[in-house]
Amino acid sequence: RPKPVKVVPTYPIKDLKTMENFSSELNQQIPMKGHTILIDTSHFRNGLTVPYEGKHVWDAYHVKLPHLYPPPSSHQKSRASPSRWGNTCHALDKLTKGSFSIGDIQTAIMSYNSGNKDKWSFDAFHHYGQRLHSVDNNLHLVIPKMVKLALDLPALIKRPIPLLRQQQTQAITMTQQQICCLLANAFFCTFPHRNNTGPGSEYANYPTINFSSLFDSRSDSVRAGLQAEKLRAIFHYFDTVTNESPHQDSASKPDGLVTFERICIPPSLLPNWNNRRETLKNLHISSKGSIEKEGTGMLQVDFASKYIGGGVLKSGLVQEEILFLMSPELIVARLFTEKLADNECLKITGPQMYNITSGYSKGFSWVGPYNDQVKRDMWKRRYRQIVAIDALDFKNPKEQYTKENIKRELNKAFVGFHGQPKTAIATGNWGCGAFKGDPKLKALIQLMAAAVADRDVAYFTFGNEDLAFEVQRMHDILAQNRVTVDKLYKLLKDYSGHYAREHHSPKDLYRFIREKIGHKESLL
Ligand code: AR6
Repeated sequence: RPKPVKVVPTYPIKDLKTMENFSSELNQQIPMKGHTILIDTSHFRNGLTVPYEGKHVWDAYHVKLPHLYPPPSSHQKSRASPSRWGNTCHALDKLTKGSFSIGDIQTAIMSYNSGNKDKWSFDAFHHYGQRLHSVDNNLHLVIPKMVKLALDLPALIKRPIPLLRQQQTQAITMTQQQICCLLANAFFCTFPHRNNTGPGSEYANYPTINFSSLFDSRSDSVRAGLQAEKLRAIFHYFDTVTNESPHQDSASKPDGLVTFERICIPPSLLPNWNNRRETLKNLHISSKGSIEKEGTGMLQVDFASKYIGGGVLKSGLVQEEILFLMSPELIVARLFTEKLADNECLKITGPQMYNITSGYSKGFSWVGPYNDQVKRDMWKRRYRQIVAIDALDFKNPKEQYTKENIKRELNKAFVGFHGQPKTAIATGNWGCGAFKGDPKLKALIQLMAAAVADRDVAYFTFGNEDLAFEVQRMHDILAQNRVTVDKLYKLLKDYSGHYAREHHSPKDLYRFIREKIGHKESLL
């Protein structure tokens, strides 16, 4: 007999709320408290983009910009120290004068990073040159434009960029042009103090930002091939943003703003999971579709590393890294986002999508340009919102059923899902790939957090039909029985005890829950 197809009707995706449903809310004034906007907003309202004029500082609270290095220091003798920025301009400017090779780009970058000459390799970049440059054939055009934009930094960014530090809710808004300028600097590895991020170093708590690690595959040819594909996405991004053609389609032109907001909920304000009376919200679940495409306009979950962007500038190529390659503007968050603590997330509003990619992990490749037509709010931020939440990395998957770890994941998901506007959440097997979580447990945790945050959920199981069926059925049983979050939390804690006792052959979590709530198993 053919295997019966297991289908349970799911909530229609078209009925889930997206940013379009909240356009009037989104068009309101951007809150100013704890918010640094790098342009003059009154000019922007009149259609002009003018950098906000402030006074640069060099301290532990702000990004150390390359043109301010080295800072004037009272300890220094009066002898003028050579300006690193002067050297940088000189070296990079050569790339705008006639033809150059990838070796010349390497020489330019190394000229102001000479301390790393025995540490950095450019084999992945050379691999790109040998294998892919002949196909894309754009470096001679894009590199000079990137140089120009990178060296325009002093004119484009005129106020200090705060570091989004731990335990502070703080936001930064900047133009897509400013982001591209910062990323061009990152590409040419100009950010001072950011090459050594080892333990104990000044930026040990921050992700890396200079692109040197993307050029280096540690002599692994498979890895070099994949990093070369990443470079194709990156170059296409730079090529698009630096395109000055007047014929550019105005709907896809990157002339808007993007907001990066670190959100921190103090432990005393986190939900008390023991007394939350909410029931589960609507769920759309499907084995087909992805967070990035079908979830557009919803709150799209980034399965993040606590160091935002994870391995995007190295060899990493799973959900977070691929998302950051589709929308390279997200990479700039690495410049200023300190590693996420358990009660924090990073929300990004308005990034543009530039690249179509295919495949996953070792099968990844760049396919071509994505022409982003997503609508924008009055600040020209795209109706696209990403929330980075980092799951726990379960080196030993058995650890995930402890009460502390269940609570930690509930809180983390809640921090990400809380807030306005109440669009649906687009998510999936958060924490269940590289981080080895159990998707059945994580799906419930996310449904509980979404219930308390008062948002519906779109869940993409990434091809896993059985999981889609199981989660939908569990959801429906819980919803029909009006099982509240506190009750479900108690059941998870009971399961935690059961798991600790029976860890050699524990019951399946969903069966355990069905039995506890007295649900009669059907033959399905
Ligand atoms: N849409 C829906 N589901 C997806 C998608 C997608 N686009 N991509 C993957 N999945 P993973 P983690 C499913 O491993 O375990 C990164 O390096 C798929 O079933 O990316 O939270 C970060 O920087 C996959 O197995 O997330 C972190 O360091 C599962 O989601 C670390 O990985 C989990 O995807 C996070 O690992």
